[in-house]
Amino acid sequence: MYGLDGPDALQGDSLGLIRGIGDSLEAFDEARAAAEAAEIPWPADEIDSVAVCGMGGSAIAADLIFGAYRERMLKPFTVVRDYYIPGWIGERTLVILSSYSGGTEETLTAASQAIERNALCVAITSGGKLARFYGPEGVPIVPVRPGLQPRAALLRLLVPMLVVLDRMGIIGNVGSDLEEARGTISTAIAQMGPDVREEANPAKQLARALSASVPLIWGAELTAPVATRWKGQFNENGKMPAYASVLPELDHNEICGFGGMPAELAHLAKLVLLREPRHHRQTERRFDLTRELVEPNVSQVLAITAEGQSPLARMLDLVMLGDYTSLYAALLRAVDPGPVEVIERLKERLAQTGYGRTAEPPS
Ligand code: PA5
Repeated sequence: MYGLDGPDALQGDSLGLIRGIGDSLEAFDEARAAAEAAEIPWPADEIDSVAVCGMGGSAIAADLIFGAYRERMLKPFTVVRDYYIPGWIGERTLVILSSYSGGTEETLTAASQAIERNALCVAITSGGKLARFYGPEGVPIVPVRPGLQPRAALLRLLVPMLVVLDRMGIIGNVGSDLEEARGTISTAIAQMGPDVREEANPAKQLARALSASVPLIWGAELTAPVATRWKGQFNENGKMPAYASVLPELDHNEICGFGGMPAELAHLAKLVLLREPRHHRQTERRFDLTRELVEPNVSQVLAITAEGQSPLARMLDLVMLGDYTSLYAALLRAVDPGPVEVIERLKERLAQTGYGRTAEPPS
């Protein structure tokens, strides 16, 4: 059995992702300062709608913000994970181009369309073509520290996005939420960092419970995109299958499949319910009733409830737990959580014949 404690426990983490979470407060503060200092010439009263264009680790920040703040959003908000942007995006749309590397082809393609339509673009990136091509064209760039895995830079993407949305009048007054969130992050590191032994470490214990399973992660409302983040982190860090679904929608289709669950899959499937204290009352009931219905068809059900006052704190409370758990799960599975070789290989193959080969931005 692999150990999670002791001096050798982190040897398999070649990129230092687990220790890297320990720098989250520094990341948070740097990211906040960069977004507050960025010169953004767009007048808030000219913005009618918001679109965030990005993929993977750079898109989930926008989903998480929407999940937490959807009731406080003052303008329509959408996340575009696509080569094409919707027809309504135009000169009164704030378009946030979110790409950690600045080289993601879907985001670059979306960027060129948004710029053609004179949208009010802002880029959050560590560089790449996004900064090189569009910075000189007048797109304000919020700089992000380079050299990280995009998923390990979540706070470096999410905090600037939130600050920009605050500055542009899309979500009012997030200052006190940011302060509380710092505390949430610091508590998470103190409780779940690698030096906290397994018997006192909830993330190590959860990793032990899930590392040999197929996690089925359910969220709702604020926790819906958190479920997607957990899924992605299990996939990329743990190199393991994991699936995310959302209530109430899954009550209208997915529950029908559990009755026919093959025994082999039922044996592996563990349901993780991501709950939070401010769920709609009916959502609470749905979590309880749906759990009762599907419990016989999975090997275990684990329920976790977010803590915190502000939506940002509750969301990050669960994100931190999922990040640590997926990283410890990788160690238990004897895989290196850092490199995502299959993603890189696919991007390289696409670049051999696609936009990556050209010197110009895609059109
Ligand atoms: O986690 C990852 O590495 C991916 O999901 C990337 O975030 C995704 O491929 C997009 O790349 P980038 O974040 O550099 O735009």
